[in-house]
Amino acid sequence: MLVALSAVLNDLLSQVEEFVEDATRRIGEVSYAGLGELKSELFGKRSALNVLKKQLGELDETERKAAGQRLNEARGDVGEMLETRADQLEAAARAVRYEAERLDLTEYGETAALGHLHLVTQARDRLEDLFVGMGYEVAEGPEVETAWYNFEALNIPDWHPARGSFDTIFVELGGPEEVMLRSHTSPVQIRVMETTEPPIYIVAPGRTFRSDTADATHLPAFNQIEGLVIDRGITMGDLAGTIDEFVRGFFGTEVKSRLRPSYFPFTEPSAEFDISRPDGSWLELGGCGMVHPNVLRNCDIDPETWQGFAFGFGIDRLAVMRYALDDIRELVNNDVRFLRQF
Ligand code: DAH
Repeated sequence: MLVALSAVLNDLLSQVEEFVEDATRRIGEVSYAGLGELKSELFGKRSALNVLKKQLGELDETERKAAGQRLNEARGDVGEMLETRADQLEAAARAVRYEAERLDLTEYGETAALGHLHLVTQARDRLEDLFVGMGYEVAEGPEVETAWYNFEALNIPDWHPARGSFDTIFVELGGPEEVMLRSHTSPVQIRVMETTEPPIYIVAPGRTFRSDTADATHLPAFNQIEGLVIDRGITMGDLAGTIDEFVRGFFGTEVKSRLRPSYFPFTEPSAEFDISRPDGSWLELGGCGMVHPNVLRNCDIDPETWQGFAFGFGIDRLAVMRYALDDIRELVNNDVRFLRQF
């Protein structure tokens, strides 16, 4: 049965459509700040929706049902629209806030001053490169050592006067004078020979420590580089040639080297090596020699089959010589005006 709609219902339905139209437009235009107000205007007590709801009472039951349904739908649709819009506006507001709060931690452009490696590090890297170029490998050892590695295995027993010359800094661990900051890089020789089958060709750069007061030529914490070769038929001539090769590689081909007889407990024969200065004088650089048979035996290497040489010198001193510095302490003062020059 088709029933003609009453004028009241018609009017009400068209008001609902008007409400939806009006709400759609206003939701599209609303700003983030206006959201709350719009919501109460659309759905609050005094909203058009509420007024229309009250008018439902003027309709008969069938019409009221139809109108009520349409009113609910409209309310739901408009509510959904408003929520979607609110989500969009909130995301946009959040993006603006994040952008404003962002901390730019990158430095770039001309204003950022780039540093460079410390000159001792540069010297160490160059030495490593030179020796790697000659077929050596780079080895490392701990900075805290036991008496066995720092002294005994290197043929320096505890009664040996050479122990005193090292001004060792001991660590309060184990028995008296059992554990120490290594006073040279020579213990790395032992660690390598203990764990590696010859032939061995290594250099071991690293920090070393002695209880020296810092002065123009001494630092209590300094850097050394150790070299060790163990192979068949190695002679003092190989040692001299190797020293010569690296001195010319490091300082330039015009610089000469020489060996002078000396004494170290871990080498026999032992020598000190010097480099030539432009004025014809000689400058002492480090110690070297043929690895002592006792040292080889301490590492279970048969001295009848294997021979070798070793050398060691200070990297900081090398840098001091190369750049003709007046005072070794400049290396650790960390005055950028000084460091920048290298
Ligand atoms: N370890 C010695 C020192 O610090 C330097 C040295 C001398 C190392 C002779 C050697 C060597 O390998 O054969 O005074």
